[in-house]
Amino acid sequence: MTTRTEDGSAGDVDYGAIGSGYSSYRRPDERIARHIAEALGTARTVLNVGAGSGSYENAAQAVTAVEPSESMRAQRPARLVRAIDAVAENLPFADGEFDGAMTLFSVHQWSDVQAGLREMRRVTRGPVVVLTCDPALVRDFWLYRYAPEVLDTEARRYPAVEEVAAALGGDCTVRAVPIPLDCTDGFNEAYYGRPEKLLDPAARQACSAWSFVDDLARERFDTDLRRDLASGAWDEEFGSLRRRPVYEGSLVVVRAVP
Ligand SMILES: C[S@@+](CC[C@H](N)C(=O)[O-])C[C@H]1O[C@@H](n2cnc3c(N)ncnc32)[C@H](O)[C@@H]1O
Repeated sequence: MTTRTEDGSAGDVDYGAIGSGYSSYRRPDERIARHIAEALGTARTVLNVGAGSGSYENAAQAVTAVEPSESMRAQRPARLVRAIDAVAENLPFADGEFDGAMTLFSVHQWSDVQAGLREMRRVTRGPVVVLTCDPALVRDFWLYRYAPEVLDTEARRYPAVEEVAAALGGDCTVRAVPIPLDCTDGFNEAYYGRPEKLLDPAARQACSAWSFVDDLARERFDTDLRRDLASGAWDEEFGSLRRRPVYEGSLVVVRAVP
């Protein structure tokens, strides 16, 4: 059974506590949006599960949004549909109700990933699209040098890509999603070439893994990164990333059709 907080949050983080600044730092990136649109193809009715503040919802589609956290629902712009208060593990829709479905940066938080994905498959006729991170790749990022606890947390939370594919069944493809240097959606790897941005505590708070580590780890990260930026040590080792137009990290899109 899914446990809900006072805010309604149903995953492993309480967005009532950490979610208030989410939409300021996690703005949809148009280049990533293209990968999602391509994966959804011609789907007209689209379900968005764990919809949050509505990133990547496409005005050309008839979107139904599901979002359990009140704090996240409140950040949805007025031009978007109101989100339904429900959870992935128990979707209040009929079998095959939607042409397509998507869940973006969300599955790692669910209490039962298999059940949630099976539910998405049940209510969707066409493609189910999952934007997530490959846990086998999350530690291959410079942040691991400065905040290993954060990426260990990510590696533990994200389901294996094979597990996602198995739960969805059917014909499944997994594609890497290149991250642009000026990515507007502030997940950790979005700052691959802009390390200074992660010195902003509010930017870190918009990436839920940081809420799993203690103050000591956060302070050590801040001290060590500031020191290495000031001395030039970061740039000596990782500085070429500042000029790399796109980064292939752990971000993947999984697409399954029945
Ligand atoms: C990192 S946010 C992503 C929000 C949005 N999809 C985006 O791309 O910005 C994760 C979202 O998943 C939601 N979530 C967590 N557990 C859930 C569950 N069991 N069912 C549905 N949504 C859930 C959270 O409330 C949160 O809004």
